[in-house]
Order: sequence, then C-alpha cells, then structure tokens
Amino acid sequence: MNSDIHNFHRMEINDRRNIIKELSNLNENDMNIMNNYVDENSFDMIENVYTLMSLPVGIATNFRINGSDYLIPMSIEEPSVIAACSNGAKYARICGGFTAYSTESIMRGEIEIYNIPDIELAIIKIMKEKNKILEMANTRSKTLSRLNAGAINIEFKIINNEIILYLIVNVKDAMGANVINTMLEYISGCIENITGGKTNLRIMSNLTTERITYAYAKFDGNALGEEIVDRIIMANNFAKNDIYRATTHNKGIMNGIDAVLLATLNDFRAEEANAHAYASINGYKPLTEYAKDNDGNLIGSIRIPVAVGTVGGATKTSKKAQLNMKILGIRDSNEFANVLASVGLAQNFAALRALADEGIQKGHMKLHARNIAISAGATGSKIDKIVNTMLDENNISYSRAIELLNGDKNGKL
Ligand code: MEV
Repeated sequence: MNSDIHNFHRMEINDRRNIIKELSNLNENDMNIMNNYVDENSFDMIENVYTLMSLPVGIATNFRINGSDYLIPMSIEEPSVIAACSNGAKYARICGGFTAYSTESIMRGEIEIYNIPDIELAIIKIMKEKNKILEMANTRSKTLSRLNAGAINIEFKIINNEIILYLIVNVKDAMGANVINTMLEYISGCIENITGGKTNLRIMSNLTTERITYAYAKFDGNALGEEIVDRIIMANNFAKNDIYRATTHNKGIMNGIDAVLLATLNDFRAEEANAHAYASINGYKPLTEYAKDNDGNLIGSIRIPVAVGTVGGATKTSKKAQLNMKILGIRDSNEFANVLASVGLAQNFAALRALADEGIQKGHMKLHARNIAISAGATGSKIDKIVNTMLDENNISYSRAIELLNGDKNGKL
C-alpha cells in the first residue's frame, strides 16, 4: 500500500472514495457505509438526543510509520489541517518516514481515603494485603488476567490527613477508563475495612505518565532549505521559553491528534487533558523537539502520553468509526498510539514550516473564502469563481459572496 497518492486533493469525491476502497481493501458493505450511511446507533449513544451532527472526514496522505504506509482518516471543522498534515508527512517521507515506539499501557486509578485513624499504620496494612487487593481487582477483568496484565501494583501519596491510593493497571489494548473505574469501586470496601477509613473519589487518572509514545522523523533539509530549518528550530526555542507560544504550538499538535480521535470516535478530551498536563509537569513546555543533523536535515521528535484503545469504547457503536478504523488499518493500541504521535509531529512540523516561511494566512484565507462561498449558497463551479473573485478583491465576506451569487444570476460571473 502506498499512501503517497498523487493529487488526491484535486480529485472528485467519488474518485477519492474508489482509491480508498482499493488501498484499504474495502467491500461493498464498507462502501455503502462510506457513501451515505447514517449511524442509527448514534441516536442511542447519549441522552436527550434530537438530531445528529455531521462532520467532514478527510484522509491524510503520505504517512509512512515504522516502515508501513497508512491512510489516516481525520475529522475536523478547521480547513488546512489535513492538507498541512499530509504536507508534513511528505517532507518526512523523503527521508523514510516516521519511527515511533509506545510503552506498555500502564495507567493509574486513584482512591481517596479519609477519616483514617492512623495513616502510617493504614499504609502498612494495605501493603501487607497488597496481593489480595490486586487479585480482587483482577477478578473484574478476565481478559486482562488471561493476558497476564491488569492491576499490577499499589502506590501511595499522603495529602493532609488523607491517603491517595494509586492502583497501577496494565490495560493492554483498552483505553482503560472503564476497567480501572470498575476495579476501584470493587476494591474500595475492602480498602475501608483494612484502613478503618472512608473512601471518597474512586476514579482513573487521565494523566498517563507511564503510557508514553515517542515518534521521530527526519525532514528533508534540501526540500526545506537551510534558512527554514534554522527558523523552525528557533520557533521551537521560542515555545520553550514562552508559555503563550507553547500553548499554541501544542494546540497545533492536538489539531491532528484530535481529528484522528474524532474520526474513530475516541475520547479526544481525555487526550487533550493528558497531553497538556504532561506538557506542564516541569513548567508548561512544547511536546516536540527539533535539531539539525550534520547533513542539514531537520530532526523532529515528540514525546507524548497517548491512552487510546482498540477494544471497547464508542468505536464499536458507530459503523462509520469502525470503517475509519478499517481504513487506518491498525492492529493494537500501541500501533494506534504510534500513528497518533506521528500525526501530532507531522502537524506541528507543518505549522512551524508554514509559520517560519510564508505564514499560514494565505492558504487559510483561501479555504476560509471557500467556506464562506458555500455558506452563501454557491455550488459546483461557482464556488471557485466566487472564491477567486473574493481573493482578487481582497474582500472575503459573506455579504460579498451573496452579492457575487446574485450578480451571477444576472450573468456577471
Ligand atoms: C492553528 O489551528 C494551529 C497553529 O496556530 C499552530 C501553531 O501556531 O503552531 C497554526
């Protein structure tokens, strides 16, 4: 499979669909889902439903990660993101693509214990019963126990007169929230008995400092030019030293990651919280790093906590999300995390490249003008005509688009 699809963005939508079908080995059922299908299950997914939102889903091209090519579905309302991401992947592809690695899926659940008669003694008592507590927690997931995973350790923190008990769990290919919360609620009575205290919150943590993904890419120095390479490194140093810039820098990373999470119906808020908390552990910092190698190439890397699953979760309820997972073609949660971190790096590189060169407004305004033309009611070939006129006139507005459309009725376009 080759994800370097020439002129994909210029193709008609049906040609794009056929290419995706061929490259992802989709069947007729998949194509029916892709073409029109309304996910009826979505009506039952949440409460008080009265309608469904539709978001566009595009493909990021050019991705090569750990030697394999990927078509990456992304769902987002912001123009330019998918084009930029594909463009970032193209610069990396020249030098072999991305190399990524994810650690094991180690997560933490927390139990808050208060009203404890003797805190130090309570901790000793829990430690003595540690194996029993872990065994008890592991009765909640036969799958994890079978895989020799599940709850593996207990740690503590004392705050004021409370003990925070950390249950450390290897959740393998799950995102982990459900299984951890179930374990915590199940063992909390036992914890109360052992400590003589009361338990308050019992909830997994969205900060996953032990579930980290690393991605690396060499971006071709010849294609970039020496000045841009230097300016990207300069921009990264700017982010390291200015929290206002670091926030926007990391927002750009999450543009890509969230869009893939949304297309596959994963909890992007969890990943947002995770990434930004991790970025702030030693004072808020950019999640990526850049340097120049001896041949003048730009070396980019990202280190980011990624807690995503390939089993369980909402993905299974939505046929469209399942289709997007099939197009993505990943086998397990580590591979999924590798893709997400690579997308984050590509997205960040592409933003920095554009910002360090021509700026982002030119491309952005074109897409913005397109959205305005469509919202004013333009269709087919009229969209481009209105966009080009508004760009030429440097007057991109809804009222001008309406004027041009009305003028068109009088044969002016
Ligand atoms: C816009 O959605 C994202 C950027 O602002 C990211 C960045 O500045 O690095 C372009």
